[in-house]
Amino acid sequence: MLELNNAEVLYSDVILAVKGITARVPQGQCVTLLGANGAGKSTTLKAISNLIRTEDGRVTSGNVVFDGVDITSANPVDVVRRGLMHVMEGRKVLRHMTVEQNLIVGGHMQDTREARRMLDEVYGRIKRLAALRHRTAGYLSGGEQQMLVIARAMVARPKLIMIDEPSLGLAPLMVEEVYGLLRELKASGVTLLIVEQNTRVALELADYGYVMESGRIVLEGPSSSLKSNEDVREFYLGLTVEGERKSFRDMKHYRRRKRWLG
Ligand SMILES: Nc1ncnc2c1ncn2[C@@H]1O[C@H](COP(=O)(O)OP(=O)(O)OP(=O)(O)O)[C@@H](O)[C@H]1O
Ligand SMILES: [Mg+2]
Repeated sequence: MLELNNAEVLYSDVILAVKGITARVPQGQCVTLLGANGAGKSTTLKAISNLIRTEDGRVTSGNVVFDGVDITSANPVDVVRRGLMHVMEGRKVLRHMTVEQNLIVGGHMQDTREARRMLDEVYGRIKRLAALRHRTAGYLSGGEQQMLVIARAMVARPKLIMIDEPSLGLAPLMVEEVYGLLRELKASGVTLLIVEQNTRVALELADYGYVMESGRIVLEGPSSSLKSNEDVREFYLGLTVEGERKSFRDMKHYRRRKRWLG
């Protein structure tokens, strides 16, 4: 459904942030893009939605195909119209508006009756938001804001939702709740592409994963095989072969070996 073919992304004509990556997100599946800070994960999502333009970035070679159409240089609004939503990093709610007003903004491209129907569906599915509908979005907790930005994307009835670090800064119980919602979305047929640093929860939900490092994909495979991959266990899950947690000192030592790039 979504394909990146050897895509290269450049900021301000000089900073090469993504160095030719090829990846696929098949319809109905959940794919996760993993990697440390600065690996190029958010850049990849912004290149797909074309919001990268607002940061003076562009795809300089390769292409992005969605539903059989080359969207590499499509207008971001056109990308949304085709059914591809990007939930950006950092829970960008409209802080001074209520929860309901935030959701109405998400549905602004549909006719009123359809938007109303989606609003009811979202409230039915996310009881927590229904109870908060008249509250000011800026005062919600981090977890509630995360639910809200995902819900706002749902209102537009997208075929595919890309979500950037949904678990960032959330307490474990809230992470479970957010991922519970993502699991329901997947079950309802929405295709998902999730960027995460929380490798464990992401691999629990995803069917397939890619690991990025310095703008390149260094490892990929079905979630089950990534979970048992020795490097993933050491670098991202912090586990040794015996399944014990490693100390940060040990991790640092292993990092220096940089086995993936060698
Ligand atoms: N607007 C920008 N202009 C110039 N360089 C940028 C811009 N945004 C990101 N970069 C650079 O591109 C590289 C990849 O950044 P990106 O935000 O995609 O990483 P990331 O994997 O999402 O990291 P994190 O996990 O910290 O969010 C970094 O070296 C970053 O400094
Ligand atoms: Mg990022």
